[in-house]
Amino acid sequence: MNETATLWWDTGTESICYIDQTLLPEKYTIVKCRSIGRLATAIKRLEIRGAPALGVAGAYGIALAARVCQKNDLYAFFADVHKDAKILRATRPTAINLGWGIDRVLSKILPVQDIPSARRIALDEAEAVAREDTACCHTIGEHGAALLPDTCTVLTHCNAGSLACSSWGTALGVIRSAVNGGKQVNVIACETRPLLQGSRLTAWELIRDGIDVTVITDSSAAHLMRTGTIDAIIVGADRITRDAVFNKIGTYMHAVCARYHNIPFYVAAPLSTFDTQKSERDVIIEERGREEVTTMGCRVYVPDAAVVKNYAFDATPMNLVTAIITEQGVMHPPVSIDSILSFKSTK
Ligand code: MRU
Repeated sequence: MNETATLWWDTGTESICYIDQTLLPEKYTIVKCRSIGRLATAIKRLEIRGAPALGVAGAYGIALAARVCQKNDLYAFFADVHKDAKILRATRPTAINLGWGIDRVLSKILPVQDIPSARRIALDEAEAVAREDTACCHTIGEHGAALLPDTCTVLTHCNAGSLACSSWGTALGVIRSAVNGGKQVNVIACETRPLLQGSRLTAWELIRDGIDVTVITDSSAAHLMRTGTIDAIIVGADRITRDAVFNKIGTYMHAVCARYHNIPFYVAAPLSTFDTQKSERDVIIEERGREEVTTMGCRVYVPDAAVVKNYAFDATPMNLVTAIITEQGVMHPPVSIDSILSFKSTK
């Protein structure tokens, strides 16, 4: 199985390197990023995307901010790093991991009294975030694999694979671990309108690993559930509150349909994706530009005068979730704030 990292720090050039996900599957391009402005653009454009990968990008972003800051005065240095943190934090509002990665590195360097040490500690912590994310994905994979039958067809939505994480993946990590353990898993990848993370990224990753994958239009999912083709659904998450799972737009309709057809609906996510402070109504759902919906390539598919709504995520109520697979184990229903807190505290 392929264990290529999605983003990493290049010591020679002191830059963040990443696979540009907007170009896949046509082109595999590594970008070197050496400014906060460029990193913010990469996150907004979804060159780097997926909640855990955004956590790693936020962490490396603070390491980069500390590296490129030219100030010699400690107070001015921290003021600049905080300004850059604010720019990065504002790029995408729904995935909690972005702010989590930023805050984790910031909290390590704030007590530091000299700039060279702050730079070194920021990079060490960012590297730890990346390493731990990969380790979490492998553990999530092992816990989740045990839930799957020996031979099964699993539907997934969006891309919760190695590209969405440091490597390995959450939902696709479960599938990879199951296949590694000798299970026969067929994957149905929903194309995931409008930016096609399922058909472009999930299918690309799985084919690279030799795992069977079939791409369907999002609206085919209900038909396949009704005809008995799907044994389980596994998705990732951008934020998990006490009452809902936020994930790529379209996830909710799969969960409703899965309940109707008695198909288990699993969410695979690290504990860093849990938000114990907010509930569903407090979370901002990112809305993106109309051109993502109205155009494909050079062609326009929507009249200029039509109003377009482009929600990036939706919320699935917790009562539709069969179980949440974390690095600490599988959380079975009812998933409550107490169970989330006790999982977090055992970490
Ligand atoms: O808009 P995206 O592509 O960043 O959305 C990503 C998703 O919705 C993923 O399913 C989620 O981040 C989980 S990734 C392990």
